[in-house]
Amino acid sequence: MESKGTQSNMRAVVGLWSALTLFLLMEAVIADRIRKPTKKPQRKPLDRKATPMPGIPEPQEPTDFPPPIFGPPSIFPDCPRECSCDPSHPSALNCENRNLRKVPVIPARTHYLYLQNNYISEVTAEAFANATELRWVNLANNRIQRVDKEVFAKIPSLIYLYLQKNQLKQVPSALPVGLEQLRLGRNRITRIPPGAFQKMERLVLLDLYSNQLSDSGLGKNTFKGLSHLIQLNLARNVLKKMPAGVPASVIQLFLDRNSIEDIPKDYFESLVHLAFVRLNYNQLSDRGVPKAVFNVSTLVDLQLSHNQLASIPLFNTHLEHLHLDHNSIESINGTRICPQSPTSDYGDITLVPKLRYLRLDGNHLSPPLPMDVAMCFRHLHSIVI
Ligand SMILES: *[C@@H]1O[C@H](CO)[C@@H](O)[C@H](O)[C@H]1NC(C)=O
Ligand SMILES: *[C@@H]1O[C@H](CO)[C@@H](O)[C@H](O)[C@H]1NC(C)=O
Ligand SMILES: *[C@@H]1O[C@H](CO)[C@@H](O)[C@H](O)[C@H]1NC(C)=O
Repeated sequence: MESKGTQSNMRAVVGLWSALTLFLLMEAVIADRIRKPTKKPQRKPLDRKATPMPGIPEPQEPTDFPPPIFGPPSIFPDCPRECSCDPSHPSALNCENRNLRKVPVIPARTHYLYLQNNYISEVTAEAFANATELRWVNLANNRIQRVDKEVFAKIPSLIYLYLQKNQLKQVPSALPVGLEQLRLGRNRITRIPPGAFQKMERLVLLDLYSNQLSDSGLGKNTFKGLSHLIQLNLARNVLKKMPAGVPASVIQLFLDRNSIEDIPKDYFESLVHLAFVRLNYNQLSDRGVPKAVFNVSTLVDLQLSHNQLASIPLFNTHLEHLHLDHNSIESINGTRICPQSPTSDYGDITLVPKLRYLRLDGNHLSPPLPMDVAMCFRHLHSIVI
């Protein structure tokens, strides 16, 4: 019926327009059919021609998701039709980019599960009932709002769990204690309940980037017991204070784009492995930054761009990279910031301050740099001013 209507319309059009117009019209009709089935015939071929056809529109929730993509039958009888099972990797289940709305039943042999880039809205226990040997689960970039209680608790071998870019409001409960990487960035988490990461002694990476965590959403003991944690990412949240109880094992602490105003004087004292600190885009001013708070001998890379600092904080002789661009610094006194006496003759090469890279652009400074800066920082080979 639809094609009849289209044909009679075309005949009418042939009477009025040239063969070229017909060609253009056909193209328009075909393109429109791909986009969505239309019952009404096209009326204004010339307008269509004048404005370029829009691309296939982004699907609207929740009814307009594109249909799931089914693959050819697999040699594995337990391979879900909406996934592919590679005979040379029998422990992997590939279900990514297939417009899925739900998690298929995962075969027991699966170790590596790829479900990223779908439209899954909940993670149910049934799908995982037999999948007790999973090691990697990638559920990133879905629409997950809900994870059944204890879904992952029954998977003791799980070491990587990727849930970033979803719609979670809370950290899934009862996470397996053997987890090494937990990515929860780009969700809607506002608070972390006490004990959420309890006993997760093997966790190395905890990514909570881009959530809605505030100071009251983090407890004093939230990170307690994470004795192998190396990277803690809390960037793009709404913290006003430095997080409490960061484990001593942490090497990388990322806090960019919060609203942190001050740092307690002894904050870094217990963080004896800390090497990378990012505090770009916060509200730090001289008042909130105690004079020697960054004088931490393990620090290698310190980023304080886009704050309100008026002077350069003191730092240790081991620091290599310092980002201070886009603050309110008006002057720089090499003698004052030099971790050693700048007139030392540095007979002992290990005493030479290691600073190699310094960014100072976006302040109220103009070149040249004072002589005492060059005298002190002899390894400095890049300076942006
Ligand atoms: C789990 O495995 C058992 C035994 O192989 C099977 O009977 C059952 O149907 C499986 N459950 C699911 C949800 O696949
Ligand atoms: C910075 O720390 C070093 C030890 O790493 C110490 O010797 C020095 O006195 C400290 N400087 C300031 C200004 O606190
Ligand atoms: C730099 O600081 C030192 C020590 O604080 C001070 O003696 C000196 O006068 C200052 N230099 C300038 C140019 O302000």
